[in-house]
Amino acid sequence: MEISASISTLLLLLSWMCFLLLFLFLFSNLLTKKRDKVENVASKPKLPPGSMGWPYVGETLQLYSQDPNIFFASKQKRYGEIFKTHILGCPCVMLASPEGARFVLVTHAHLFKPTYPKSKEKLIGPSALFFHQGHYHTLIRKLVQNSLSPDTIRRLIPDIETEVVSSLESWVSAGHVVNAFQEMKKFSFNVGILSVFGNLEGNYRDQLKENYSIVEKGYNSFPTMIRGTSYSKALLARKRIREIISEIISKRKEQRLMEKDLLGHMLNYRDEKGKTLTDEQIADNVIGVLFAAQDTTASVLTWILKYLHDDQKLLEAIKAEQMAVYEATEQGKMPLTWGQTRNMPFTHRVILESLRMASIISFTFREAVVDVEYKGYLIPKGWKVMPLFRNIHHNPEFHPAPHNFDPSRFEMAPKPNTFMPFGNGVHSCPGNELAKLNMLILIHHLVTKFRWEVVENQNGVQYSPFPVPLHGLPTRFWRND
Ligand code: HEM
Ligand SMILES: *[C@@H]1O[C@H](CO)[C@@H](O)[C@H](O)[C@H]1NC(C)=O
Repeated sequence: MEISASISTLLLLLSWMCFLLLFLFLFSNLLTKKRDKVENVASKPKLPPGSMGWPYVGETLQLYSQDPNIFFASKQKRYGEIFKTHILGCPCVMLASPEGARFVLVTHAHLFKPTYPKSKEKLIGPSALFFHQGHYHTLIRKLVQNSLSPDTIRRLIPDIETEVVSSLESWVSAGHVVNAFQEMKKFSFNVGILSVFGNLEGNYRDQLKENYSIVEKGYNSFPTMIRGTSYSKALLARKRIREIISEIISKRKEQRLMEKDLLGHMLNYRDEKGKTLTDEQIADNVIGVLFAAQDTTASVLTWILKYLHDDQKLLEAIKAEQMAVYEATEQGKMPLTWGQTRNMPFTHRVILESLRMASIISFTFREAVVDVEYKGYLIPKGWKVMPLFRNIHHNPEFHPAPHNFDPSRFEMAPKPNTFMPFGNGVHSCPGNELAKLNMLILIHHLVTKFRWEVVENQNGVQYSPFPVPLHGLPTRFWRND
């Protein structure tokens, strides 16, 4: 009795919702038609072409029910290099051309501000540099850039090598299949810690790692303060990370250490009036950099493992280059030098081609701070804009036969703004040199001393949230001897 009553209430509710949606749909169509007319009369710039889908829900469902790359590519085919859509509750203009990306990120960057959901901002920390523009952003960015400059990271080579070798040894001694992506994440986290804190005491490192993995689980879960949910646990873990960082900071202050790592750069900063950064600003940026460094680097490394595994000729070619370096280090008895890492041209091209093929950052988001006109189209104030890196990287006009893995295409520099794996302009990736250095060092040890077999080599992709091979690429490793 009770069940059927509640079912019929549910049905009634559902039919009302359908009716409401239909009503909204028709009504909003009328509204947009009317507005289009008004714009035509005044001959103001018009909105870009494209469909906005259902109101509120917009095209979010399409985006999530199919491969996002197919979603963007089919839009581009239909509407061209600029089109509008509606995702996650926001009206938005997508730009799939090099000029469009440059307009938003470089030449007119001041008309667009970074934009992230508030819930994510709270998890990373509102003072982290990616959420800011203007003076504060420039200030923090300088500190981050200095701590990741070639002069600083070249000193990290021996420590990175130690991390690489101990990771590879641990995968072999596991004696079974490992989830390559998860393992690459551990490696990338450790190198992130190195660049932020230098050689950090082991128990701080473990505490940060445990608590950070809780933060991470909350990042892609539904944001609610209800106790026991992933999101609220993540906020608590974040608080503990802040406490750990404060403890590390006060220890350093006691010992008056002047380190060259990011923490050192931030602790030494004084403005014109001698004011320092607050612990909160420092902690938010430390967490921000660890966040920016980990999954990105790990995703690309996992793709490289797959690309090399799937193409034995490619593997042989990269091995030939790396064996020569291996001999020069007296079979690994000497650490790699900075000069040697700068002189691995083929390996470097393989890395660039992997970055292009995988395009793990498929697009980015900004928000128009005023009405902006681009190529005769209006981008209204408050709308999101999305430069679509992946579409540009996979456009045959700029990268012929885009679906072939072909490192030789990088023997010539790509045309301006057609290759942006690290973004462009004031918010472009300050960690790009460190990311490439990690990859060079890992590839060096991997191909000279180890072999590996991908166990479940399907061609699927999972979004976590960056694209990675399905199931994190289950792989088994052996030492060559
Ligand atoms: C292969 C690895 C990586 C890729 C593909 C990558 C890609 C990117 C991209 C595309 C952006 C710009 C986002 C935008 O404009 O909205 C960015 C920003 C950033 N990346 Fe990376 N990144 C990688 C590794 C790293 C590493 C290792 C670090 C630090 C150790 C790092 C730190 C940052 C920071 C701090 C920002 C924000 C810069 C700002 O807002 O001014 N990234 N990254
Ligand atoms: C998180 O950090 C705290 C210190 O603030 C530490 O006691 C704890 O063991 C860490 N790990 C977890 C899972 O809470």
